[in-house]
Amino acid sequence: MSNPYNRHYRKESYFGQPYPGLVDFFESYPERNVVLDLGCGQGRDALFLGGIGYRVVGVDISDVGIEQLNKAAKQEKLQVEGVVADISSFDITNEYDIVLLDSMFHFYKNDVEKETRLLRRIMEEIKPGGLVCNFMQKGNEREEKLKSIIKESGVPFEILLDGYTDYPEFDAEFHMYIIRKLKQE
Ligand SMILES: C[S@@+](CC[C@H](N)C(=O)[O-])C[C@H]1O[C@@H](n2cnc3c(N)ncnc32)[C@H](O)[C@@H]1O
Repeated sequence: MSNPYNRHYRKESYFGQPYPGLVDFFESYPERNVVLDLGCGQGRDALFLGGIGYRVVGVDISDVGIEQLNKAAKQEKLQVEGVVADISSFDITNEYDIVLLDSMFHFYKNDVEKETRLLRRIMEEIKPGGLVCNFMQKGNEREEKLKSIIKESGVPFEILLDGYTDYPEFDAEFHMYIIRKLKQE
């Protein structure tokens, strides 16, 4: 079965621009380090981050999205590289300081196991001091689910941001949850 996003990505900037809340957070974050954007799509976030000085590796199963991202990164001479791969088995090595997930979790019945496995693995594999930045559509149940998976991972963390951002192009609100993994005592 072909990836449905390959069809969506025939349209330029299918998901529009990065959310204002994402822009504010990353612009004011004091370090410009290495971001792993899991499920980066056409690279709306990866390219923005590259433009303000982060080095970014974007991973997506859509070869169409990754091709567009790599073309734009080359044109704009950014330190942004797109890789076609399955995020469910992509290693979160020590190379990465920040893991970004934008619109990747919904916790619908059919996906909840897979998404829980991914989130737990990210918590375990990201290095201490690393950030996990999740952006997803606002919703009490899914926000509680996200927080409970992170808490139940048993990995110590601190919350840097728990709030909402507008998503003007789609007239929606998105939840932002940004945490830092702490060293195990
Ligand atoms: C809702 S889109 C979000 C894209 C991007 N994060 C954004 O916000 O613009 C979901 C993306 O995840 C990708 N995706 C879904 N499952 C994946 C997997 N197992 N491995 C890699 N990419 C995946 C899809 O191809 C799609 O590009």
